[in-house]
Amino acid sequence: TTVSVLVPAAGQGTRLGRGPKAFVRVGGRTLLEWVLEAFAWADEVRVALPPEAEPPAAPANVRFLEGGEERQESVARLLQGARGDVVLVHDAARPFVVPAVVDRLLQAVAAGGAAVPVVPVPDTLIEPEEGRYGPALDRGRYALVQTPQAFFRELLAEAHQLARARGLLATDEAQLVRALGYPVELVPGDRRMFKVTFPEDLALAEALARTWDRRPV
Ligand code: CTP
Ligand code: MG
Repeated sequence: TTVSVLVPAAGQGTRLGRGPKAFVRVGGRTLLEWVLEAFAWADEVRVALPPEAEPPAAPANVRFLEGGEERQESVARLLQGARGDVVLVHDAARPFVVPAVVDRLLQAVAAGGAAVPVVPVPDTLIEPEEGRYGPALDRGRYALVQTPQAFFRELLAEAHQLARARGLLATDEAQLVRALGYPVELVPGDRRMFKVTFPEDLALAEALARTWDRRPV
């Protein structure tokens, strides 16, 4: 089985407020460099960058292209020309890739064709009503979805075709695969695979970077 890793890295990082997130540094390297290092084993890594970005120096298994206005469009472009039997879609904004989770995903995708990592909701979950406390949801019934997300490449391509035909816009690939009526397996994720989103997340990322077992890119 060959594996293509698709890395949407074309966002503007508006909530973080430090420019495009892929180029924000944590522990002396950019978020994108952390991800490229984690997937050095892959047959190919395809990265969508913001239109104005200069492609950085990268290992030989990495290709860069220009992303789209929405994350989904960036992934659609990455998928065009991807060659792996399996694709792993991974946000550049998640620098800490836990190998045990990737192993679970690759096992689950081989069996079922689609698999994503989830973690429990730690806090009380409510639906605010006009800025006031609203009904509490049963947090045990919900899960937070992470990346990487693993799919048979042809299945994901079909899901993207359906999305284009129906005008669906989703925040992850699994929603599109599910819209096809295809089951997506869940595997345990890891909270260290959090998405660097808000400025406070950088302190946590710096702390994790100091102890992360890193190999040379
Ligand atoms: N992304 C992308 N193309 C876009 C928008 C987002 O490739 N048009 C990527 C981001 O680079 C990121 C991932 O999708 O790696 C998850 O998106 P998010 O965390 O929302 O990042 P940004 O869109 O950059 O941040 P913000 O929404 O705060 O502007
Ligand atoms: Mg965004």
